[in-house]
Amino acid sequence: MADTPTRPTWLVTGATGFLGANIGTFLDGRAHRIGAARAQIASTSLFDEYLVGDLEHPESLAAAIEARRPDVVIHAAALASHEACEADPARAEQVNAHAAGALSDAAARCGARFVLISTDAVFDGERGNYTETDEPHPTTVYGRTKLMGEQLVAANPEALIVRTNFFGWSPSGSRSILEFFVKELSAGRPVRGFTDFTTTSAYAQVLAGVIWRLVQGEATGTFHVTSPDALTKHDFGIAVAQAFGLRTDLITPSTADVHPPRGRDLSLDVAKVQSWLGEALPSQLDGIARALADSATLRPALANTLGN
Ligand SMILES: NC(=O)c1ccc[n+]([C@@H]2O[C@H](COP(=O)([O-])OP(=O)(O)OC[C@H]3O[C@@H](n4cnc5c(N)ncnc54)[C@H](OP(=O)(O)O)[C@@H]3O)[C@@H](O)[C@H]2O)c1
Repeated sequence: MADTPTRPTWLVTGATGFLGANIGTFLDGRAHRIGAARAQIASTSLFDEYLVGDLEHPESLAAAIEARRPDVVIHAAALASHEACEADPARAEQVNAHAAGALSDAAARCGARFVLISTDAVFDGERGNYTETDEPHPTTVYGRTKLMGEQLVAANPEALIVRTNFFGWSPSGSRSILEFFVKELSAGRPVRGFTDFTTTSAYAQVLAGVIWRLVQGEATGTFHVTSPDALTKHDFGIAVAQAFGLRTDLITPSTADVHPPRGRDLSLDVAKVQSWLGEALPSQLDGIARALADSATLRPALANTLGN
């Protein structure tokens, strides 16, 4: 689709990732889209153009931001796997913390609004229903390095920090818990559903829409943006099965493999963003229904973006 000069330019890091790709599709027709990726991308089906940069050496991407002067930078790239972060904490700190700070500084220097995508994993999950004023207490390398990224980005008074958790369709087809349940249950395979792990996950397209509105309204500071309702992973799986017409009896209630065993409730309180928006956010069931409605269009479109 041809861009008009009046459209804002949004630069999205992590363009090949789950959220970055979802934001790319959401922005179609709304913004000129620059995707930043670690390696060259051949297809321009999702972003209008691409920049290449490795966050282990963020200077080149920071320089590219200053040269292109986008209106908005959405920093969705991260070392987002708990396992990868535990295996290489120094790399996790470089990518999740120092690169976030470097890109935020670059955005501030050229007047671009900077949005950091952060996580519910900055909390320890002992209590749940966390508000923006609750003290973070991460228990993992991933959570600790993401929190460090928040602290570095907070030096930019115009920055927006969005703590979230999301589900939906991803370019790899396997990044999201929704995809896990749909794939396994569609194949008739039995799965475990954790009864001791609770989140308020949001559908990724809903999240992209809320980020759009927060940016339009020039929101700054920290916002929790998820669904308003908490579900265990077991109950989420049951809801997916019911919505997609799949067998609920294939899901066995089970506890998560964490040692020592402990319940984790990473649910976020979204009262602040709901008040800011002036309306309630969609529930997880609403999000699952939207994912079902998008499965014939968005799902293959995202898969095509990586040429798979
Ligand atoms: N998934 C969730 O439910 C969830 C929950 C809370 C918060 N978040 C946050 O949401 C954001 C997006 O997560 P996601 O699930 O979309 O993650 P993802 O699918 O793993 O995507 C991560 C992206 O970051 C890129 N990346 C990683 N290391 C890089 C490096 N050294 N240089 C350049 N790019 C690099 C990846 O590029 P490659 O494709 O080249 O690896 C990929 O595009 C992250 O900030 C994450 O912390 C995610």
